[in-house]
Amino acid sequence: MSTLTLARENLDRKGFLDLDIDPQLDLAAAINRLKKEKNAVILAHYYQDSDIQDIADYIGDSLGLSQQAAVTDADIIVFAGVHFMAETAKMLSPQKKVLLPDLKAGCSLADSCPAPVFREFKKKYPDHVVVSYINCTAELKTLTDICCTSTNAVQVIESIPADQKIIFAPDINLGKYLVQKTGRDMVLWNGACMVHEIFSHEKIVKLRQRHPRAKFIAHPECEPHILEMADFIGSTTGLLKYTIADAADEFIVATESGILHQMQKSSPHKTFIPAPPDNACACNDCPHMKLNTLEKLYLCMEYEQPEITLPEWVIAQGRASIDRMLEISARAGLVSG
Ligand code: 13P
Ligand code: SF4
Repeated sequence: MSTLTLARENLDRKGFLDLDIDPQLDLAAAINRLKKEKNAVILAHYYQDSDIQDIADYIGDSLGLSQQAAVTDADIIVFAGVHFMAETAKMLSPQKKVLLPDLKAGCSLADSCPAPVFREFKKKYPDHVVVSYINCTAELKTLTDICCTSTNAVQVIESIPADQKIIFAPDINLGKYLVQKTGRDMVLWNGACMVHEIFSHEKIVKLRQRHPRAKFIAHPECEPHILEMADFIGSTTGLLKYTIADAADEFIVATESGILHQMQKSSPHKTFIPAPPDNACACNDCPHMKLNTLEKLYLCMEYEQPEITLPEWVIAQGRASIDRMLEISARAGLVSG
């Protein structure tokens, strides 16, 4: 049996094609060649490793990545991100081949809301509409009326008539932030992101004392006691834009550490400090995002596997919730990047 056949047989178990790569191979050059040969586009989230961000055709937040996936004329979308993002790209462009370098690149937040359990939960609130953060499975999107991302969540909630009751899933922290921001009393699903729940209030207070001029900025997936301290709260794109526009030259950043690469690139003269987590480790890496590597990216482009496939009914029933989100974003003039 050939090595490739064996690797393909192991794909389901491992999540990626485990093949040896010639150590002499210039991976960046090989990936760029494959992009041209196959008319492929690489879409990367800000939480990817810097070498992946540097080779991507587009780097962005969840809204920007969905907008790109909806309009690209490439034949192959290579998604350097996590599973729910690649699924969203497949729902928006079902005729295209969507590849994910490692199928096991999941998301603790998406996992915290299994569709069968949510289906039963939803039955208790028959007169509510469901708004789901895009960080959820494709199947959960089939139970959702409108999706949102952290960039457009406020506009999505505000687009719903004031007397209409709402369930918000799956992120309880973003949900609480939205309740406060919009004044809407929503039923919240109790899910969370493992990366954004790890920040230490006490260590951040101490760090701010040592850096009194630094601005503290945070993603709305963080817990309320962390958000209360923030000078600015925003999506990854929002945080990046803030660091570019703000006059401060030091920032303490409470989100996944991958975003620091673009912050540092955009403002080389400024200092970016990852907010300290409540554990012995100094990093705020998302273990799912970081499963993708340049090697796996190369192999998935060369062999066009692992590929994201979805049942037709999931695409048919789930896509409307993403389309509604994109329409609301377009009406609000929200173009992310
Ligand atoms: P945004 O990039 O849309 O802010 O989302 C952050 C995130 O956690 C993605 O997994
Ligand atoms: Fe999911 Fe959190 Fe990782 Fe984003 S950072 S992919 S929300 S686990």
